[in-house]
Amino acid sequence: YEEVITPVVEHYELLAAKIGEENRKRMYVFEDLGGRKVALRPEFTASVARLVATKMRYDPKPIRLFCVGTLYRYDEPQSGRYREFWQANYELIGSDRPEADAEILALTGNLMESLNLSNCRFKIGHVGILRSILTQEGIKEERQNVIMELLDRKKQDKALQFLEEIGGSRGCINVLRNLIAIRGGEPEGVIQEIREVVKGYGMALTAAENLRDILNLMRSREVKFEMSVEAGFARGLEYYTGMIFEAFIPEISVALGGGGRYDRLIELFGGESTPAVGVALGMDRFILGMEKQGVTLPKDAKKRVLVVPVVDEVRGEAFEVSLRLRRAGIHTEVEVMGRSVSKALSDASRRDLTHVIIVGPKELEEGKIVLRDMEKQKQKTLSIQEALEEIDN
Ligand code: HAM
Repeated sequence: YEEVITPVVEHYELLAAKIGEENRKRMYVFEDLGGRKVALRPEFTASVARLVATKMRYDPKPIRLFCVGTLYRYDEPQSGRYREFWQANYELIGSDRPEADAEILALTGNLMESLNLSNCRFKIGHVGILRSILTQEGIKEERQNVIMELLDRKKQDKALQFLEEIGGSRGCINVLRNLIAIRGGEPEGVIQEIREVVKGYGMALTAAENLRDILNLMRSREVKFEMSVEAGFARGLEYYTGMIFEAFIPEISVALGGGGRYDRLIELFGGESTPAVGVALGMDRFILGMEKQGVTLPKDAKKRVLVVPVVDEVRGEAFEVSLRLRRAGIHTEVEVMGRSVSKALSDASRRDLTHVIIVGPKELEEGKIVLRDMEKQKQKTLSIQEALEEIDN
């Protein structure tokens, strides 16, 4: 995945187009000095879709893009829910095949695994199943959106009541009620149940087949997370057209990440008809999860060096040594507090630096310095070239 950087402030219409009523209400919207209605980005997907529709329109497919940054949604701040938060967002653009959906699911699982999070559970559904039934019943998209939003907020009874109020047929209400009750960890059985319930709704059956294909690809011993398929699962974002999912761990009640397929957003922004699927991971929630599970990451393996002059007279030489080290790509700092060697060494140890170079007049006479390995607590007198090689080892 290649990184793209999108603006924090964008036109309101772009960001609001398919974000869903609930998220739309939570946007930070204002007028800029030019009289434009703009907003702070509440997510990345709309901006990435715009980028693909314009600047990357003719790029060969698939396109794999990621963004990392801060997003803004007005909310009551509480554990794991903030008004400013971080996402790492991945989009796979140009493929409508189940392999692409499976890649996004697997990528999310891999990231959780590589951060040592355990007992991960994915909740998976398919917007196509729900929407196809409503479309076949002649229910307009805006009204479908209301139903999806209510389902997203787990207000299933309200969703069914609304469907009744707008004249949904008895049969349709029953199908939806039965669908909402279907959930389970055994994909083949769940898909079979869905097929029985949606009989007579051709497009919904096709959507169920698509979900089966995706889940079949995930049937591997290499997939380490638990999956639960929920036929009545919906997400507030309106652009989804296919598989949707959210990732959880037991210690946190809110989702650590969420995503899905959106095959019509890029054309909405003037691009070619381009299928796409993606996920966004809430980085604040990942960190919270790691704290709750007591996960620590392996230490950064980078070499970090402090250069200390023994006396003021060799400050210039110490400075020169630091320039050579940096040019060789080593993270280097020079002692700037005028500390004695022993004080500088204890400071370097406190901050987990890997090496200290001590520059003294005596060694300099022979063109040498002292290199101290902080971990091994051993030091050697070496030429700068030798020190560079030793640090790089
Ligand atoms: P989303 O479910 O709205 O999806 O957000 C994804 C993740 O962002 C959530 O699972 C959560 O971890 C984090 N998040 C959301 N709101 C907050 C908040 N107020 N405080 C802390 N974390 C939060 C999207 O944004 C879609 N754009 C995902 C996507 C990408 N779909 C396709 N491509």
